[in-house]
Amino acid sequence: MSMNEQVTAIAVDGPAASGKSTVSRAVAKTLGFNYVDSGAMYRAITWKALQEGIDVEDTIAVIGMIHTIKVSFEMVDGQAQMFIDGVYPGDAIREPRVTEKVSTVAAIPEVRQILVQHQRSLTKFGNLVMEGRDIGSVVFPDTPYKFYLDANPAVRARRRARDLAAMKIRANQEGVAQALQQRDKLDSQRSASPLQIALGATVIENSRLTVEETAKLIVAHIREQDRRRGKVGAGAS
Ligand code: CDP
Ligand code: CDP
Repeated sequence: MSMNEQVTAIAVDGPAASGKSTVSRAVAKTLGFNYVDSGAMYRAITWKALQEGIDVEDTIAVIGMIHTIKVSFEMVDGQAQMFIDGVYPGDAIREPRVTEKVSTVAAIPEVRQILVQHQRSLTKFGNLVMEGRDIGSVVFPDTPYKFYLDANPAVRARRRARDLAAMKIRANQEGVAQALQQRDKLDSQRSASPLQIALGATVIENSRLTVEETAKLIVAHIREQDRRRGKVGAGAS
């Protein structure tokens, strides 16, 4: 078993800017669950490598680094925050220089192995919604609650460009679209835990849905699943 019997994990996967973070946060709030952004962990490792002046193409150096850093977590307002050597990098992990390199770092099996262990350990804080690329397929393969969000590439590029502008991070829409496409390709084609629709996952195409509508669909699906299983579970309250 990958998780504690009493703890419920809801897995949300999908490509970049498909709505995973905002929708998962809304679902977690509705259900009173914790929220975990697993992508933030891959980004934090990438940020740390760049801080250390490590060339992320140098797999041996990256692996060496992950064995020397100290990773810890805090649950702040129901959201997991990852610290590296006592430092919480915050929005710095969203900078284009990190985004550019994160898929390279995330393709390293040793990095994934360590982060997956950390991700599973977060069930010690209680029920959670975790979003990423391999949550339903690898991190919590036994959970009955698996979702895969998608949206068309133009919509996703527009969403991401808007987010970057709000964070005062300079980026043009065409560049954002290209970067998303490149990252989705790397994430889908890598051999270690590629982005895929996990077996049994419910696919939600949300190009024309709001965050609230998408979150409502997920919560309704969870409640329906619980009803059918005759179980008082995550969404039954
Ligand atoms: O928010 P956005 O969709 O841009 O990406 P993210 O969720 O922050 O993830 C950043 C990168 O981390 C992805 O492009 C993947 O390369 C990697 N990742 C992964 O490999 N596995 C996960 N479970 C989550 C993220
Ligand atoms: O986590 P991921 O990269 O998959 O996406 P996100 O950061 O949750 O969403 C990217 C942006 O799209 C955010 O600004 C969301 O508010 C927005 N969004 C939206 O407008 N409509 C949706 N159905 C889902 C997300």
